[in-house]
Order: sequence, then structure tokens, then C-alpha cells
Amino acid sequence: MLEIDGISKHFGGLPALEEVSFRCREGMTTALIGPNGAGKSTLINCIAGTLNPDAGAIRFTGRRIDDLPCHRRPYLGIARTFQNLALFPRLTVLENVLAGLTPEAEQSFVKSLLRLPATRHRERLLRLKAMAMLDNFGLADKARWPASVLSYGDKKRVEMARALVAGPRLLLLDEPVAGLNGAETARIAMEIRRLHGAGLTILLVEHDMDLVMTVSDHVVVLDGGRLIAAGAPQEIRTNPRVIEAYLGRMSVTA
Ligand SMILES: Nc1ncnc2c1ncn2[C@@H]1O[C@H](COP(=O)(O)OP(=O)(O)O)[C@@H](O)[C@H]1O
Ligand SMILES: [Mg+2]
Repeated sequence: MLEIDGISKHFGGLPALEEVSFRCREGMTTALIGPNGAGKSTLINCIAGTLNPDAGAIRFTGRRIDDLPCHRRPYLGIARTFQNLALFPRLTVLENVLAGLTPEAEQSFVKSLLRLPATRHRERLLRLKAMAMLDNFGLADKARWPASVLSYGDKKRVEMARALVAGPRLLLLDEPVAGLNGAETARIAMEIRRLHGAGLTILLVEHDMDLVMTVSDHVVVLDGGRLIAAGAPQEIRTNPRVIEAYLGRMSVTA
């Protein structure tokens, strides 16, 4: 479904990604792990289109997407969450989720200026869709709150609701449980498992190794912008190179 083929990205001459290649198979959850600064978010941004790679190709369902502008990618069915939350603080929770329907919602907004009855009907449908997604995340009662007043955990869930509302084919999650407590983490883990069960293709960046081990089918490890290992979760857990680069360092800091 997703093919990362020799992707390189430099920032002012410093390499963040160097010839990284791997694939995400359809319906599978692929975890992308590695120490801070390994290049994980940079890679997510290259796939989502907020960054352009310097070299290499990214293909989605066989089609090259790395030269497509960022705003075109949601139309293809690629949705993402951000490591550092990117909600609109002054908009309501519902409006933030509606923003995940942007291509449709924008159109409907323009038409709503013309006050066509059919459009108002359509707008209602979009709102119902967004409300159903909020309900799914236990956030329906906060739909009219400004996003800024939500707790950190609620904000993380609104981000997931926004990413999912348009029904993507590929979901990019950048540290979805970072900073969450045990109960909130379990809730997101359950949601990821449900999405996996429903056949969604997921690329998950995460430091929480319990989550990575329990939800992923395949693990890819980056260190210093290079791919150092890829394989089944159990293989990765016992891979000496991964332990040296990442897992060992984690247990030292833990
Ligand atoms: N916009 C940017 N400008 C300059 N350097 C960046 C930028 N984004 C990331 N970097 C650098 O690229 C490297 C990889 O960062 P990042 O992809 O955020 O790592 P990770 O998500 O694995 O922690 C780091 O050295 C970081 O400082
Ligand atoms: Mg990151």
C-alpha cells in the first residue's frame, strides 16, 4: 500500500533521513521506532506532504505521491496526527473534527453561502458524521467546547477523531500515546486494535514498546536517519543492533 523507496532528507546540510526504504502492507500496522532525532517525524511529514524529500520516491497504491502538494493527499486517503498537537484552539471540538472533512466541508461552506437547501442537508450530514466520530472517542458531550480548554488526553483523542472522520485508507500516527496516563493509553491502544481489525493500514510512530509489541505486525527501526532493522516485533525486541541503538538506551533512562 505504501512504498518508501530510498528517501533522503537534509536540513541545512545535516541529514535527517538517509536512503530509507521499507513498505507498509495493506491492512497491517507497521511501527516506526527509534531514539529521539532518528528521523521518524521527518519521514511522517514526507509521507503526509508537509515536507518534500530531497531524494527517493514515495508510492501509495502504486502511484507516486512525493511530488503531490500536501493538501491533495487527504483526497487520496492519507490521514495523520501530529506529534505536537495541531488543533485549532479557538474552534470548537466539533469544528476541529469537521476540519478533517476539509475537501468536502470547504465545498459545502461555499455552497452554504448560496443557501441551497440541498447543501444545508449535506452540511447536516457532515456534522452528524463528525458527531458520530466524537461519540466513538467518548467526546460527544464536549463537542461545543473550545478545543483549547480540553485536557491533553482529550486533545490527543480529538486529533485521532479528526484524522479518521473522512475514512482514510492509510493512517499515520506520530506518538499517539506520548504523555498519556495508563488508562488513556489503554483506550488509544484499543482504538488502534479496532482500526487494525477493520482493515485500516497504519504507520505508527511510538516509544511505548508495550503498545508497539501488542499492536504492530511489522517494526521498522531508524537510528540517525538510517534504517537499522526491520522485522516482526519479537525479532526486533531481541535484535542486538536495536538493543544497542534504542532499547538499551531506553532502559538506562527508564
Ligand atoms: N524543520 C527542521 N529544521 C531543521 N532540522 C530539523 C527539522 N525537523 C527535524 N529536524 C532535525 O532532523 C532530525 C530528525 O528529527 P525528527 O524527524 O523530528 O526525529 P524523531 O521524530 O525521530 O525524534 C533531528 O536532528 C532534528 O533536529
Ligand atoms: Mg518525532
